[in-house]
Amino acid sequence: MNTSARPTALITGASSGIGAVYADRLARRGYDLVLVARDAARLTTVAEAATRHGVAAETVRADLAQPADLRRVEARLRGDGAIAMLVNNAGIGAAPGLANVDPDALEQMIAVNVTAPTRLAGAAAAAFAAAGRGVIVNLSSALALAPELFSGAYSGTKAYLLNLSISLRQEMAPHGVQVQAVLPGATRTAFWGPAGEGLPAEMLMDAGELVDAALAGLDAGEDVTIPSLPDRADWDGFNAARGRLGPNLSRQHAAARYGRAA
Ligand SMILES: NC(=O)c1ccc[n+]([C@@H]2O[C@H](COP(=O)([O-])OP(=O)(O)OC[C@H]3O[C@@H](n4cnc5c(N)ncnc54)[C@H](OP(=O)(O)O)[C@@H]3O)[C@@H](O)[C@H]2O)c1
Repeated sequence: MNTSARPTALITGASSGIGAVYADRLARRGYDLVLVARDAARLTTVAEAATRHGVAAETVRADLAQPADLRRVEARLRGDGAIAMLVNNAGIGAAPGLANVDPDALEQMIAVNVTAPTRLAGAAAAAFAAAGRGVIVNLSSALALAPELFSGAYSGTKAYLLNLSISLRQEMAPHGVQVQAVLPGATRTAFWGPAGEGLPAEMLMDAGELVDAALAGLDAGEDVTIPSLPDRADWDGFNAARGRLGPNLSRQHAAARYGRAA
């Protein structure tokens, strides 16, 4: 438990890539850290680097696909009043396609990308709302908007997190809790494995630049941050089109082009 006057940020998937950069940047911002992942040695390396910025960093070894481990992290979020920020970052990819993809691997992905961030965001939301402050950051993906490009199941997990974030932001607004979805494009991390070597350099962002942009979006109060999108108006236009569907998504009768039952 944190006995310092500093707020604490809990970051999942903090042992590498984007999560490790969040650990560095939030330490520089004066947060004590709770760093969660499976690889204890890599977590310790990230924690040691963070403490050079004068903050405390604790490591929690947890496999978020395992219900007992997940519940342990949830309990920490509910019970530790110093935690003021959750970065729901842990996530894994999947092979393209569905018909020939190992269903057990997909189930594991859904556990890490959907079940875990849902339970953790719910625990944080309850604790932060009671405290009247807090920040929840959910690492979605630009692929949430592009199911044709990669694994539809992976895209679906990230679209889920985007929808959850938009809804949770609305729910948390009266309680002083900020919610942000971050939609990175391809980012240079271990996520891509050797496949990353084949990605065009002009599509790949460094994790440091990605997290700095995401934090700038958070500081600006954005609900959804797409770090590589040059013109914010493109996202606003997409959202406006979605809004225009609204009044016609649920009506008493089918549209004329579908005919009417006699
Ligand atoms: N890289 C990209 O191009 C990209 C683009 C859009 C979105 N994202 C999203 O960004 C997030 C971070 O990805 P990254 O690129 O930084 O990938 P990464 O370097 O592979 O990091 C993934 C992190 O998740 C942790 N993790 C994986 N399975 C876990 C489990 N069962 N329990 C606990 N922790 C687990 C890993 O730690 P351990 O292995 O130590 O458990 C690692 O710290 C993910 O949600 C990813 O979907 C990435």
